[in-house]
Formats: sequence, structure tokens, C-alpha cells
Amino acid sequence: MKLAEAMSRLGTETAFEVLARARALEAQGKEIIHLEIGEPDFDTPSNIIEAAGTALMEGMTHYCPSAGIPELRQAIAEYTAETRGVNVTPEQVVVTPGAKPIMFFAILALVEEGDEVLYPNPGFPIYESMINFVGAKPVPLVLEEKRGFCFDVAELREKVTPRTRLIIINTPQNPTGGVLARDDLEEIANVAREHDLVVLSDEVYERILYEGEHVSFLSMPDVQDRTILLNGFSKTYAMTGWRLGYGVMPEELAVHITRLMTNSNSCTATFTQWAGVEALEGPQDTSYKMVEEFRRRRDVIVPGLNAIEGIRCAMPRGAFYAFPNVEGTGMTDKDFANYLMEEAGVAVLSGSSFGKYGGGFIRVSYANSIENLEKALANIADAVAKI
Ligand SMILES: Cc1ncc(COP(=O)(O)O)c(C=O)c1O
Repeated sequence: MKLAEAMSRLGTETAFEVLARARALEAQGKEIIHLEIGEPDFDTPSNIIEAAGTALMEGMTHYCPSAGIPELRQAIAEYTAETRGVNVTPEQVVVTPGAKPIMFFAILALVEEGDEVLYPNPGFPIYESMINFVGAKPVPLVLEEKRGFCFDVAELREKVTPRTRLIIINTPQNPTGGVLARDDLEEIANVAREHDLVVLSDEVYERILYEGEHVSFLSMPDVQDRTILLNGFSKTYAMTGWRLGYGVMPEELAVHITRLMTNSNSCTATFTQWAGVEALEGPQDTSYKMVEEFRRRRDVIVPGLNAIEGIRCAMPRGAFYAFPNVEGTGMTDKDFANYLMEEAGVAVLSGSSFGKYGGGFIRVSYANSIENLEKALANIADAVAKI
């Protein structure tokens, strides 16, 4: 079958491939500790599950408006207004099955062949994949270890050309755990205004933060008419399998993103949206407890990795990933990740699967029990000693 040419430019997310490989090894009887997949290992809070159950029993099993049920759009608008200190109307909200489609739709709606898009590298691999897919040019904003995995805003300014259309930012960041400072966000806002650019701000890890308060790009002055906030329920409420996310954007763009929803999914599952209303309006303590548990795990995994010769790991400030430099092992990041799977029974991702500038690093998801993290550290130390 002859595929459309664009398909040759579509990338992927390695996490799912590595997970499949780990499962195949498990099927052969090998024990694997899973530090590859980016999802909380906790169950969804029971009040949220109950809300979905009630919605199902009450017959919320039909199509609903493509942009989402009015109650959830209203709850998201209120939540976003309150946490960002800006006015948000429900008409600015588009609910999607997971936050990921907002990336897909925003790039489809705004970026044309030959345009340029600035995006973090290493970064969530779908940004680069989608930019390539639409025939645009991905222009990396390099996240450097020595800068706490933040990009240089002066470099951002230099990389803007007349073809630049969109800037993608992500804070707290996957895969590095880096967090953008308020000053940097202000400067990004200046660049966006000066050059009439749109900013897609991926804030799905907003609550998984270990120092200070989350600073949202949407809170920057005079950017609300050029910002798409990408947010969701997967990470904050341990709801990855529910597929529930959203975008908050100027109303004129929301109309078009909604049309993309009509053309693809029709709408997001109705009863999961009722669970989303409960997630936002119900008690938040389980979600905050989860963050505290992530902090405890971070404080085990990072010193543990640093104690292994050849590995150097910066302290992540957000999300649930450590991003250690493994160049000192003498292996490439890809070989090292494969070696850990085979030799240590520990599944991790290579840094270069998050883009060229992730080379020399691995991503370790610490969304696993302290017991398993300690076991993984011991296995990694043994495997490294054998190199
Ligand atoms: C940076 C980032 N953005 C967005 C997503 C997508 O989340 P979901 O589609 O589950 O809401 C992820 C998931 O791993 C992520 O790491």
C-alpha cells in the first residue's frame, strides 16, 4: 500500500515501544522494573471514579457537543481564570480526549508547510513529530544541563525569523524536570508580541512542582490573545487512561479547533467529562498527597543515581522524571538504556528519543514505589560496575 508522503515524517513516542519490549521480556519470565512510562502509578481518586459511575448510571453515554459538555467547559474556565489571574470564558475552552490532541490540532490549524516552529529539545517527542508532519521546520530551543534545563531566551530571540509562526514551551518539563522562571516567561511574551507569534504552553505538569508556585504563560501581560494553554487531567489526577484534556485559547481559534474535533473524534467521552468536573470541583487533597510522594521518591532516586560512578543527575524541580547524564559510563544513551533493560532489568528511555540534544542522558520516571526505586538503583549500580 502506498502511504502519503507525510507519513514518512511522522515520529513517535518511544515510551510505548520500550514498554512493549519490557512486556515481551516479562512474558519470557524476566523481572523488569518499569521506569520508562510517564504516568502516575496511583489509582484515580475514588470521588472521581464515583462521579463517572454516577454519570454512566444516569445515562451520560451519548454524543455531546464537540467542544465538551457546558458544565466542564465552565469548570475549566473558572479553574483557569482563578489559577492564572485572567478572564476566561467557557467559549475559549475545547475539551479533548487527553491533552495530546491539542498539540496535534493547534499545529494543524496554525502551521503551514515551510513555516518554522520553535520548540524545546530535548522535549516531548510529539512536538517535533507534528511539526515535521505538516511540512514545517522544527527549530530547537536547546535545553542545557548547565542552565538547569532551561533554554537561553536570547537564543530564542536570535532564532526567530520571518517564517516563525509558533513557539512551544513546556513547564514543568518532560523529560528534564526543568521549570521556566518568571523572567524567562516574560521575555518569551515580549518576543511573541514583538514578532506577532502564537505560543503553545504545555502545562500538564503544573501541579507536580517541588519549589515555589507554578507560573503560567497565560498569566503574562497581554498574551491572552496569542496563547494556547494545553492542560489536562492525566498527571494531576492520575487519569492517563481516561483520556481527558483541554486547551484554553482565544475564542476565534477555539471555533476552528472544535471543527477539528468534529472531524476527528466528534466529542470526548461524555461520562469522563463528568468525572473531570468532579476532579476540578471536588477535594484536591489526594492530588497534593501524590505530589508529596513524588517528592519523597525524587529524594531517593536522584542521590542514588549520583552515587553511581559515571552518572551525574541534576535535581529536577518538577514533573516525575530524573534526567541523568550517563556519558561517564562510556556508552551512548541508547546503548546504555538497552543495556539497563537487558542487564539490570530496568526499563528507562534514552535521552535522544526526546530529540538530538537529549543525547548522553537517560530519562528515569520515578512514578514507582520507593522499594522498586531502591531495587532499580542497586541493579543499575551492579550493571554499571560490570561495564
Ligand atoms: C509534556 C507532555 N504534554 C502532554 C502530554 C499528554 O498528556 P495526555 O494526552 O495524557 O493528557 C504528556 C504525556 O506524557 C506530556 O508529557
